[in-house]
Amino acid sequence: MKKVLVTGTAGFIGFHLAKHLLDEGFHVVGYDGLTDYYDVRIKERRHQMLLQNQNFSCNVGMLEDFDSLHAMAIAEQPDIIVHLAAQAGVRYSLENPRAYADANLIGTFNVMEIARELEVDHLLMASTSSVYGANEDMPFDEREKVDTPLTFYAATKMANEAMAHSYAHLWNLPITMFRFFTVYGPWGRPDMALFKFTKGVLDGTPIDIYNHGEMFRDFTFVADLVRGIRLLIDAVPQRPETRDDIPSYDSLSPVAPYRVVNIGNSDKVRLMDFVEAIEAECGRKAIKNFLGMQKGDVPATWADATLLKELTGYQPQTDVREGIRKFVSWYRDYYQV
Ligand SMILES: NC(=O)c1ccc[n+]([C@@H]2O[C@H](COP(=O)([O-])OP(=O)(O)OC[C@H]3O[C@@H](n4cnc5c(N)ncnc54)[C@H](O)[C@@H]3O)[C@@H](O)[C@H]2O)c1
Repeated sequence: MKKVLVTGTAGFIGFHLAKHLLDEGFHVVGYDGLTDYYDVRIKERRHQMLLQNQNFSCNVGMLEDFDSLHAMAIAEQPDIIVHLAAQAGVRYSLENPRAYADANLIGTFNVMEIARELEVDHLLMASTSSVYGANEDMPFDEREKVDTPLTFYAATKMANEAMAHSYAHLWNLPITMFRFFTVYGPWGRPDMALFKFTKGVLDGTPIDIYNHGEMFRDFTFVADLVRGIRLLIDAVPQRPETRDDIPSYDSLSPVAPYRVVNIGNSDKVRLMDFVEAIEAECGRKAIKNFLGMQKGDVPATWADATLLKELTGYQPQTDVREGIRKFVSWYRDYYQV
């Protein structure tokens, strides 16, 4: 079975992906810096859970530390790399942009250099729906031009897409970039809305609701997301012979084995409906603190998931209420509340 190097295995999505790949019989090598952006204990717990499978090994190191990353990769010789480690979070990028420059620009460059040296079969890397920035045409389609990032986080991910295209072109390195849409589920990130809202509702403390609740998000359940990633591992992009070889729905580059794929539910959920579902699941009302629009935030996201479906035959479909139920159940169990 193939060996997959997954960066960010102590993180929310990396943990779920590693678990999914291990369940399918892959060997998984993890690499994560266990940064203190949020509670490190939950990251350690995720790694401990993965270590129960003997086909998993993990390395603690920073992406910016090329020597550490390189030594691990040379020793492990992965066939595939899925690069998920990053400084995530839209709002924090206003506070500490340097963390994004270091992890997302330098770190991603280091991962690409390793993928090139090892000539891996496929490099897959996380981008974000935030790259759609000020675009208003919805649902968002991968073939749209994206050139209006509203935060430095989005700008670093757009830069990652550009960097990746050049490497795919120059070195014939097959690269898939995913654009994720608000991923949620058990073991979720403490800085994200679902976690904060659930905590607030259960603790009886106020929750901040931006843009007075006039927000829409394409919420993607994490199990659906990792299934999409798994299937995309086999959809290796190939440089087309001519532009006419590219199907109309495809974002494949005309000059490189490179494409961008949205992974989203393709369903726009009102923020207030999301809050109501959390209240229903917790059996309590939230104390709502309505606020204005946050700097750099966007009022809505909504994925066109046609390309994912065309490439894999799969479309995420977990209903948001069911996903919230699974999250709240995990949260209560994990924090014993
Ligand atoms: N969760 C979402 O809704 C979402 C949406 C769009 C894109 N993404 C992207 O998906 C990827 C995974 O996100 P997540 O939600 O699992 O976030 P996460 O913060 O839970 O996981 C990221 C992991 O990367 C590690 N990391 C951060 N900086 C590092 C560095 N410099 N060196 C080594 N390790 C480092 C962290 O310790 C963490 O465990 C990220 O690239 C993120 O930008 C996530």
